Amino acid sequence: MGVRRKKVSVLISGRGSNMQALVRASREPDCPFEICAVISNEPQAKGLSFAADAGIATAVVDHRQFESREAFEEVLHETLLVFESELVALAGFMRILTPTFVRNWEGRMLNIHPSLLPLFKGLHTHRRALEAGVRIHGCTVHFVTADLDSGPIIAQGAVPVLPDDTEDSLAARVLKVEHRIYPEALALVASGTVRMLDGRVVGDWQADEQAWLSSPAVTRRSLLKDITS
Ligand code: GRF
Repeated sequence: MGVRRKKVSVLISGRGSNMQALVRASREPDCPFEICAVISNEPQAKGLSFAADAGIATAVVDHRQFESREAFEEVLHETLLVFESELVALAGFMRILTPTFVRNWEGRMLNIHPSLLPLFKGLHTHRRALEAGVRIHGCTVHFVTADLDSGPIIAQGAVPVLPDDTEDSLAARVLKVEHRIYPEALALVASGTVRMLDGRVVGDWQADEQAWLSSPAVTRRSLLKDITS
């Protein structure tokens, strides 16, 4: 008999490609989570039709219908409870959440951000990475805390920045990695392998000590020279 899967609501505002990656992962036999609902603050969000076609419950909580951020979040919170959500995955959800809402879901709400945090918090991360001239860029899955894009980091994925990259080409390279690490990070939390404790990520996972990345890639020859000289 399999372990009971944790119920996850995914919050989106647009395209929803990360949400789709989570849905695909949830269909794997050993996946420790199931997607119980996809909720959008944007009625026109493209991801909603994917979710509906996939047989997943959807809901719209349109922030424009509320007089205050608090009133919007109250209904959002109630909606999450209606679907019996145990975890919340923000996936391109473009509303800033108040500390009160965040506190209610502390340790149970994740976000994916398209940069190697703590670099490039906020918007336009790929443009800013190109402007800064970094050689390695990437994405981060973290627990959500009251400070924007600052919660404890669960997983990161890195990509090289290539000389002729544009914002779009870099975004596409990072997005592929987002689709890999978000399901992996959510599975770690849903299975109880990692959790948030005193503002840090603690848990019982195996890290590969030998894993490292460099960009531009160091060739075998120059690496050998470094080691032997
Ligand atoms: C992703 O790049 C994600 O990291 C950021 O917003 C974008 C959403 O894309 N938070 P999608 O809606 O998941 O396709």
